[in-house]
Amino acid sequence: MDELEKLVTAVLAAPKYRYISPALVRRVAVRELAVRRNSKEALKATKNKLHQVGGAYFAAKIDYARALADLQTAVGDDAAFRAACRRVMGLHTSTRERLPILEEFYATILADLPPVQSVMDVACGLNGLAWPWMPFGPDTQYIGYDIYADMVGFVGEFLALAGVRGETAVRDVISEPPNRPVGLVLLLKLLPVLAQVEETAVPRLLDSLQAKYLLISFPTASLGGRKKGMVANYEAQFQAWADGRNWDVQRFEFATELAFLVRCCSGIA
Ligand SMILES: C[S@@+](CC[C@H](N)C(=O)[O-])C[C@H]1O[C@@H](n2cnc3c(N)ncnc32)[C@H](O)[C@@H]1O
Repeated sequence: MDELEKLVTAVLAAPKYRYISPALVRRVAVRELAVRRNSKEALKATKNKLHQVGGAYFAAKIDYARALADLQTAVGDDAAFRAACRRVMGLHTSTRERLPILEEFYATILADLPPVQSVMDVACGLNGLAWPWMPFGPDTQYIGYDIYADMVGFVGEFLALAGVRGETAVRDVISEPPNRPVGLVLLLKLLPVLAQVEETAVPRLLDSLQAKYLLISFPTASLGGRKKGMVANYEAQFQAWADGRNWDVQRFEFATELAFLVRCCSGIA
């Protein structure tokens, strides 16, 4: 086994990374092997990077069987089901940060969106569970991608339980940027995460997507909770990524998130 295979195998053997996309592990490991002094340092750096882009969002290991049982008990009672969805979304930092603004987030941003057939949630985390708050009809399809097989499996079970048409899959969107034509793509708090792995990952993803609309957002509080001028920084970063694209942009600012709804003028009809 060569050095790269050994490193990938060692990462995937750690309980924390058992379910993570092997494609992403390999991608990060190749880069770290090239710049670190030895394989021990490369292993440590690979794990650190994977923690930054994925592991850090879990305060504790999620018991998905228990979360599903919680949802199953509540199904059929709208208020109880929404309460259960909120409890489960609280288990991933990114959706937890959105809970205080959940009632207004999708309702405000998507208020004037024409009907869409499909929504692709790129790096979805547990955001599929926000479906009851999204203003879509029963015919709209949800497609969710993330790097954790156990998490996307669970979101798939949620969709079935909630009667939502859709599918989820493990996908490293740096190695495999999605290009399936859809009505709306959600890129929620994702772009800075991808840029931490590879500088060119964001423009490549934006070039690949085929959507009528994009909803792009940024956190306005760090994982530690402090603000540190994040709105101004992310706004400037968004402008740089938007530069030269034929986009019609609307801006929305919430207590914990900065969002841009983009109509892709040169995208699919
Ligand atoms: C800040 S969280 C955002 C989650 C979700 N979009 C939301 O706003 O609630 C970043 C997400 O990106 C996922 N992720 C990180 N790198 C990825 C990659 N290369 N491909 C797909 N998903 C990735 C993580 O697992 C995590 O769920």
